[in-house]
Amino acid sequence: MIVASNAPDSIASCADAIRAGALIGLPTETVYGLGADASSDEAVAKIFAAKGRPADHPLIVHVAALDGGMSGVAHYAQQVPAFAKQLMAAFWPGPLTLILPRRTGVGAAAAGGQDSIGLRCPAHPAAQAVLAALRHPAQGQTEVWGIAAPSANRFGRVSPTTAAHVQSEMGHELLILDGGPCTLGIESTIIDCTRGAPVLLRPGSITSADVEAACGRRLLSKEEQEAQSSQAPRASGTLESHYAPNARVRLMDAKALQTAIDMLPASAPDARGPTIAVYARAPLKVVTGIVTQRTMPNDAAPAAHELFSVLRELDALGVQLIWVETPPDGLAWDGVRDRLQRAAA
Ligand code: TXA
Ligand code: MG
Repeated sequence: MIVASNAPDSIASCADAIRAGALIGLPTETVYGLGADASSDEAVAKIFAAKGRPADHPLIVHVAALDGGMSGVAHYAQQVPAFAKQLMAAFWPGPLTLILPRRTGVGAAAAGGQDSIGLRCPAHPAAQAVLAALRHPAQGQTEVWGIAAPSANRFGRVSPTTAAHVQSEMGHELLILDGGPCTLGIESTIIDCTRGAPVLLRPGSITSADVEAACGRRLLSKEEQEAQSSQAPRASGTLESHYAPNARVRLMDAKALQTAIDMLPASAPDARGPTIAVYARAPLKVVTGIVTQRTMPNDAAPAAHELFSVLRELDALGVQLIWVETPPDGLAWDGVRDRLQRAAA
């Protein structure tokens, strides 16, 4: 069931559902999450079951913005390095997840059994309203410190950026809080803060340059990470094949894309409509009926905003192939490029 975030009682109903150990669809500024009480192992197990996600993949725990997220951090994490505090001050509430050493005895199931925990203080007002309701218990209720929420898609599939996407992934039983289309559209930037220096685990709307500028520290390079023999944390968003629609995705530069289109037959052997969707920054010359086109925005932020939604729409046309123009170089495009490379893997 979808409830509008501005409808009377919708926030209270969602908070009640979380307290009761149920799942909810939760809007954030990045993508929609599939949320549960992060302290309840039973509730967290329902997330893994609903997603079809292996139980040793850690989830992100969302905390209230009450005090800049600090009390939530103090509840779940220990030994927070100074650079992590600077990042929270600069970017919370917002699209940044920090991996921190986990305090013993809290959030073990949400952390997938690891001794670290991923924490994020989301900026979406509806997510914050639910978190605030949980942190301010009514008489006789206990305080709930955080909502564990991975993206509300089935494992390995495209993340949802609208309430309707969540419903199509998870079914009609789930209580989904509709906070409108996600403004950013790709998942949060993830920084591992457990290795002495910040390490980028997943690029997002906050760029590596933003992170370095805010904390005055250089991100550990790939080579430095490899030299550090410590076992790398598992990040499912960093599996090579992820965010995959049903159609096969291929990335090409504009020239290769035009060449590939030019080689296609003039029409389909049967009249079945388009079998190839093209998503490029400028319209390409197409003389065949088997190609349909969408134009990718020229700037990274609007491109990120619509990316998952466009992949879903093109997929829904029933095309077999989605040919995408490789995004431009430059840090601002890192998040979009990363998601497209995984969709194509
Ligand atoms: O924007 C987002 O981050 C969205 C919204 C809902 O907040 N959430 C999201 O969650 O993308 P999910 O579960 O799809 O991706 C979480 C990523 C995974 O790659 C997971 O492995 C990694 O964060 N992660 C979480 N806790 C971790 C930990 N303790 N150590 C290493 N990676 C962790
Ligand atoms: Mg995900």
